[in-house]
Amino acid sequence: MTLPAVLQDLSLPVIASPMFIASGPALVAAQCKAGIVGSFPALNARPKELLDTWLTDLQAELAAYQAVNPGARVGPIAVNQIVHQSNERLEHDVDVCVRHKVPIIISSLRAPPVEMLDAIHSYGGIVLHDVISLRHAQKALEAGVDGLVLVASGAGGHAGTLSPFALVGEVRRIFDGPIALSGSIATGDAILAAQAMGADFAYIGSRFLATQESNVTEEYRKAIIESSAADVVYTNLFTGVHGNYLKKSILAAGLDPENLPVSDKSKMSFDSGTAKAWRDIWGAGQGVGMMHDAPTTAELLERLKTEYNAARARLQLRT
Ligand SMILES: Cc1cc2nc3c(=O)[nH]c(=O)nc-3n(C[C@H](O)[C@H](O)[C@H](O)COP(=O)(O)O)c2cc1C
Repeated sequence: MTLPAVLQDLSLPVIASPMFIASGPALVAAQCKAGIVGSFPALNARPKELLDTWLTDLQAELAAYQAVNPGARVGPIAVNQIVHQSNERLEHDVDVCVRHKVPIIISSLRAPPVEMLDAIHSYGGIVLHDVISLRHAQKALEAGVDGLVLVASGAGGHAGTLSPFALVGEVRRIFDGPIALSGSIATGDAILAAQAMGADFAYIGSRFLATQESNVTEEYRKAIIESSAADVVYTNLFTGVHGNYLKKSILAAGLDPENLPVSDKSKMSFDSGTAKAWRDIWGAGQGVGMMHDAPTTAELLERLKTEYNAARARLQLRT
C-alpha cells in the first residue's frame, strides 16, 4: 500500500488528534511546524464565521514558516467534522474547508455522506473516518472514506472499548489503506508499537493537552500531570456517548465518579450546550500517567522522536 502523498513526508508517524476546545490555532500551528499532522475540530471556531479566519491565518503562518525554513518538514492541517444531525454547521464548515482545500478531513460519529466525500475528493483532499469497531470500519469503507482512525480503549474523549491489538488486527484484514491508531499513546515507544501492530500512524490527543499551546486552563493541565490511569473514568453521562474523563473534574462538579447515572443516547448533542460540559468535565485518556510535565509542542516532538529512535534501536539489538 502506498500512503496518500499528504501523509508521506511527516517528521514522525503521528497525527495529532482534534480535541474539542483544547485544539486551537496555536496548538495546530505548533504541531504542523514540528512536521506532524495538526488538527482541530471545526466546531472550535465559534461563531462559525471564525473558521474561515482560522484557516486563512493558519495557512499564511505555515507558508511564511516554510519560506523562512525551506528545509523544514511542515505537516498538513486536518479539520474534524462531526457528522451528526445535531451539528447544524456541517454544510457550512465543509464548504469553508473545500474553499481552503484543507488536505485532510477527519470525520467522526457517522460515515460521511457521498456529497461530502465528493466535495473533498474534488480538490485532492482525503477523508479519514474515526471508528471504534470493525462494523463501523466496514460501513465507512463502503461509504468511500480514504483511511481510518481506530479509537481503541483508553482513548481520551469519546473512546471505544476494544483492545488496540484486536481492533487493528481485525481491521487490517479487510483494509490495506491508511490506518491511524489511538488510545493512550503518549511516548515514542508507543508510536513504534502502533506501527508494529499494523497501524501506519499514532493518533495522539491527551499528550497535547499538557503542552504550552493547548487551549486549556492551568488547573486542567495540572490535573493531567498529576493523574494516572486509575484517575480516568469511562462514562456516557456527559454527551450520551461513552468517553474518558478525569475523575478530579467529576468530583469538582459535585458528582460521585463511582456512581454515575447512565445517560440516554438519544440526547447526544453537539450544540453549544455541550461546550460547557467539556469545559467543566475534563476529557483525557488513560495515558495521563505518562505525562509529567507541560513542554512546548516542539520540545514534546523532539522527545517523542528521541524515544521512538531509541525504541527502534533497542528492538534491533534484541533480534
Ligand atoms: C479533551 C478531548 C476532546 C476531544 N474532542 C474531540 C472532538 O471534538 N472530535 C473528535 O473527533 N475527537 C475528539 N477527541 C478524541 C481524540 O480525537 C482522540 O481520539 C483521542 O484523544 C486519542 O486518545 P488519547 O487522548 O489517549 O491520545 C477528544 C479527546 C479529548 C481528550
